Amino acid sequence: MTTRPRVIVSVPVPEDLRAELAGRFDIVDVPVGERPAEVLSAQVRADIQGQLITPRTRVDDDLMQSLPRLRVSSNFAVGYDNVDLPAANRRKVLICNTPNVLNNAVADVTLGLMLCLARNLVAGDAFVRSGAWTRGPFPLTHDIRGKTFGLLGMGRIGRVVARGAQAFDMKVIYHNRRLDEETEALGLASYVDRDTLFRDADVLCVLVPLTAETRHSVGAREFAMMKPTAYLINTARGAVLDEAALIEALRSGKIAGAGLDVMETEPLPADSPLCSLPNVVLQAHVGSATHETRRAMMELAVHNLIDALSGIRPTAMVNPELWG
Ligand code: DGY
Repeated sequence: MTTRPRVIVSVPVPEDLRAELAGRFDIVDVPVGERPAEVLSAQVRADIQGQLITPRTRVDDDLMQSLPRLRVSSNFAVGYDNVDLPAANRRKVLICNTPNVLNNAVADVTLGLMLCLARNLVAGDAFVRSGAWTRGPFPLTHDIRGKTFGLLGMGRIGRVVARGAQAFDMKVIYHNRRLDEETEALGLASYVDRDTLFRDADVLCVLVPLTAETRHSVGAREFAMMKPTAYLINTARGAVLDEAALIEALRSGKIAGAGLDVMETEPLPADSPLCSLPNVVLQAHVGSATHETRRAMMELAVHNLIDALSGIRPTAMVNPELWG
């Protein structure tokens, strides 16, 4: 057994932050996507007390069983659908994540997708580059001002998105399992029931976390309720949508278009039907992918791990009831 805590690192860490980790822990590198049980000996695994990972590492019961002394798993992400939370709670593994620091970046991509859809900006770029402009003007697009922006899921990111939509003079509505007090107090959006949200939104943005309850929770029923002129935006997790139903809705004109930063299968293969639909704008899960935001996320993820293993309450815990 080593004297210093041993931790797995499964994400590239900037030099200065890696030095901080190395000053306290023995670091064991496990390549992203690899399972510790497949690449580490039982002897090494027996000493592991913490891990720094991305959502590409599945923290399931098997993984936790293969690391019998694991106490902290620090996710370099706010979403933690890669974690079997009941199993983590049973095994008393503290799960940490990176909320807040990415709110603005994800909100920016959400609003950017809205502008791309309404003003057809991606097709407009191709139109100019191809020389098509010399043969005639680009087709007219749509205003967003005065339209209704709907949020399915109102939390830290949703509030920033709502503020942005208000800045575009949009009426903002939302649906959550319960009223969001901060949203209400700040007058950011009006609460509506779930069906009204889908019926009334001109732009419908999905921002709920992926859980057993939300998996495929937006599907044919919801698309049938939406306006044929409405756009759907997903910057949460791909599997919240029923992707087959979405493709059908986009093909048949039940909705006008979709802006997707996340998909059920990532990376999205080029032969996905989504790639050939003209009314879809796709991004490569880049909501938080700016230098500044990823740096802030990494600082938080690293410090969550250091603090938790040093007996200091970490800034961001998913299951804080385990602390202490
Ligand atoms: C997050 O932090 O959850 C982002 O979606 C990156 O995975």
